[in-house]
Amino acid sequence: MPVEEATISVMDRGFLFGDGIYEVVPVFGNKLLRAKGHLDRLKNSLSRISLQNPCSDEEWMQIFIGLLERNAGDDRAIYLQISRGAYAKRDLAIKTEYPPTIFAMVLHVTPPDIEVVSAGISVITVDDFRWHACDIKSTSLVANVMLKQQATAAGVDDAILIRNGMLSEGTASNVFVVKDGVLSTPPTGHELLPGITRDLVIEIAKNNAILVEQRDIKAAELLDADEIWMTSSTREIAPVIQLNGEVVGSGKAGDMWKRVVDMYQEHKRLLRVGKVI
Ligand code: PDD
Repeated sequence: MPVEEATISVMDRGFLFGDGIYEVVPVFGNKLLRAKGHLDRLKNSLSRISLQNPCSDEEWMQIFIGLLERNAGDDRAIYLQISRGAYAKRDLAIKTEYPPTIFAMVLHVTPPDIEVVSAGISVITVDDFRWHACDIKSTSLVANVMLKQQATAAGVDDAILIRNGMLSEGTASNVFVVKDGVLSTPPTGHELLPGITRDLVIEIAKNNAILVEQRDIKAAELLDADEIWMTSSTREIAPVIQLNGEVVGSGKAGDMWKRVVDMYQEHKRLLRVGKVI
């Protein structure tokens, strides 16, 4: 149905409590990028919040393909949200007799223009005051909204989040640091979302003999980095050229970024013709 006609109950726990999870799956030329990775992360998010997966992987894929067929376009993304449904009473306790609310739509996304992206973005570091369950792709995003607003108020594009002096991630992306030819990113765990783009970037880099380290990264290392990148399904790989008002590396998108972004574009090209997943 048209998105304006879709409705949910005001008693929906997704609305009342942000009690739900979501996924954003990029689609290039009718092919879903890393569908299995997204479905696995969906299962993990659901199990972490004790919500039974309402569909099998095959059923989800049928829903996605049906949506794509009815919403023509080239580059798109599937947005899927599952909340714990609408209960008769507002009550935190979980009751399994109520069915979840499932909402999926096609987002029309313009893939980032490489020329524009290569101009780079400016960011600030902010205190990551979120909870210790950031590996859940939860629809409770008010903390991320507040952190993003700190960046907007400071007149920059985004914020890099720091918890106890260590890098966690971006407001809606993962963060990579390049120093002396080595690509590093914080390890997965409860402090950050295990990004599917993050996985793909690591895979591409490793396959092309780039040294990759998944390790704790001190905030101070950001100041000293040759390159910093932010990655997500919608943003792809964005180079950071300014951090807290200081120039990062050469002040331009770096050589390693150019290499990896080219390989990422090639991956997308191969996906369109069905040669990779
Ligand atoms: N966000 N970390 C956070 C907090 C995110 O919200 C996202 C993605 C990522 C990157 O994950 P992936 O590479 O799987 O997109 C990391 C999506 C795009 C969103 O909220 O729209």
